[in-house]
Amino acid sequence: MWRRTGLWLSLALLAAACSGTDGVDSSATPPTSAVSSTPAPVSTMASTTSEPDDGSGRGNEGFTRFAGPPESLGIGDNYFPDLGNPGYDVNHYTLDLVFEPAATRLGGVVTIEATALQALTTFNLDFTGLTIDSVAVDGSEAAFELIEEDVVISPQTPIAQDEEFTIDVEYGGQPRSTGSGAVPFGIGWTTVNGQNYVVAEPDGAHSWFPSNDHPLDKATYTFRINVPDGVTAAASGTFVEQITDVGRSIWVWEMRSPMTTYLATVVIGDFDIVEDPAASLDAGVAIRHVLPAGTTVADWPGLERQGEMIAYLAELFGPYPFETYGIAIVEGFGAALENQTLSLFDRNLAESFFFEDVLIHELAHQWFGDSVSLGQWSDIWLNEGFASYAEWLWIEREQGRATLETGIAVERDQFDEAGFNAPGVPPSFDLFNRAVYRVGAMTLHALRLTVGDDAFFDILKAYAARFANGSAVTADFVALAEEISAMELDDLFDAWLIEQPVPQFPPGE
Ligand code: ARG
Ligand code: ZN
Repeated sequence: MWRRTGLWLSLALLAAACSGTDGVDSSATPPTSAVSSTPAPVSTMASTTSEPDDGSGRGNEGFTRFAGPPESLGIGDNYFPDLGNPGYDVNHYTLDLVFEPAATRLGGVVTIEATALQALTTFNLDFTGLTIDSVAVDGSEAAFELIEEDVVISPQTPIAQDEEFTIDVEYGGQPRSTGSGAVPFGIGWTTVNGQNYVVAEPDGAHSWFPSNDHPLDKATYTFRINVPDGVTAAASGTFVEQITDVGRSIWVWEMRSPMTTYLATVVIGDFDIVEDPAASLDAGVAIRHVLPAGTTVADWPGLERQGEMIAYLAELFGPYPFETYGIAIVEGFGAALENQTLSLFDRNLAESFFFEDVLIHELAHQWFGDSVSLGQWSDIWLNEGFASYAEWLWIEREQGRATLETGIAVERDQFDEAGFNAPGVPPSFDLFNRAVYRVGAMTLHALRLTVGDDAFFDILKAYAARFANGSAVTADFVALAEEISAMELDDLFDAWLIEQPVPQFPPGE
C-alpha cells in the first residue's frame, strides 16, 4: 500500500520539481491580454508558412533598420512577442563549436540554411549573451547590429522570396544561464561540477546559439563539438562519429527529424555513452544514454525499463517518433527536461523513488511537445498535461484503473482549496505552474470519461500522427477530438482549460 500513497506524493513532488515553484499561487493572475486576445493564427505546419507583414511592424521587410527598439520583431507568439522571427524558415542548423572546459569558453560557427518566405533586405536572428565576430550571408560578409535580443542582419544583396540562403555566424564567449521571461530561474547553458549541459525551455536557446527561437520554426541539426581528449560531448540525435586530432576530439551528432530550438542540447563532461541493446530490442529503437562515467544502466534502477516504456507508449500513442532515445543524468539541474531524443535528468531525480514516473513523463514528451510542438507558448498544457497524463496511464497499467481513479479524484479536490490559474491561460511568467501539469492531465481524463476509451485513444493517436514533426494549438486538438468522437466538446474544454473552479469529472461510461 505504501506504493499507492508514494505514487501520488511523488507526482505532486514531480510537478513541483518541474515547475521550479510551488505553482499554486492565487496571486498569480494571467495577463488580461492573454485571456482576452484571440491566439495569433498559427499554421499547424508553420515551418512551411509564415504570416504576411500585417503592418504592425512585425514583418522584416520594411523594418526601419537600427532605428531604436523595434516594437516587436517576433514570429507572432501571443505570450512572447519578441521570440522567433518571421520572414524565413530555417531548414538546418550546423553547430560547429569548440568548447574549452577549463575556461568554460564556447566558440565557433553556426551555419543556418534557410528559405526566405518573403523578400528580405534585413532579417533577424534571436541572440543574446555571447559575442558575434562576423556574419556572412551566402559566403559574403554581411552587416549586423544587435538590438535587444536580436541580431539584425543586412545582406549585401537582398534575398528574394523563396530563395534558399545560408547564414554563417562566427561567435564565442563564456556561455552562461540567462534570465527567462517564463520561469523564475536561469536557463540556457549550465556549468556545474565540471559538467556542461543545456536546459533551454522555453526561451533560452538563443543564449547559446543564434537561432529562430520559437517552436514554430523547426529544423534538422548537425552538431560538431570539439573538446579536449578525455571529455565526452554528446548532443541531441544520433551519434555519427568521433574524429580525433592531436589532443582533441570532434564529436559529431545528427538530428535528422525537425527539432525546435529549445530541445537542442549538448552534454559535455566526464560521461559515458551507454548503449542498451536489450532495451533497444524491446523498444524497436536504438537506446543510448549519457551517464556519469563509470556507471551503467544497472546503477540507475528503473532505467532498465526504458525500452518497455517506449513499447508501451508506442502502443498507446503510435510509433515512437524519432530514430533514437535515451537520457542524460547530470548534476545541479533540479528537474528533468525532454530534450529531443536525449531527455535530461538531474541526478537526484534519477535516484529518487519516483524516477519511473519522470522517465515516463519525459518519454511521453517525445510525442507530445517534441514531435508535436506548440504553435504558441500559452498552450503549454498540450505538452505538460499530456506528459502528466502519460504518468497516469503508466500507473493504470501497473496498478489498475481503480487506483488511478482514486488518485485523480484526491488530486482534483486539492484544487478546490488553493487558488490556481486555469491551465489554458497560464501566467506568461510562470508557464510551468502546477495546474498546467495536473489540471491539464485532468482535462484529458475528463475527455476520456466523456468520449469513452476507444475514441479517446484514437484521438491521442490521430493527434500524434497528424501533427507529427509539426506543431499544433489547442484549437487543433479540440477540433480533432470533436471530429473523432462526433461530439460537441467546446464546453468541456472551456470548463477545464479556461474557467474556474476545477469541474467535477463526468460520470464516464
Ligand atoms: N518541460 C519540463 C518537464 O518535463 C519542465 C521544464 C521546466 N523547467 C525549465 N527549465 N523550463 O516538465
Ligand atoms: Zn513535462
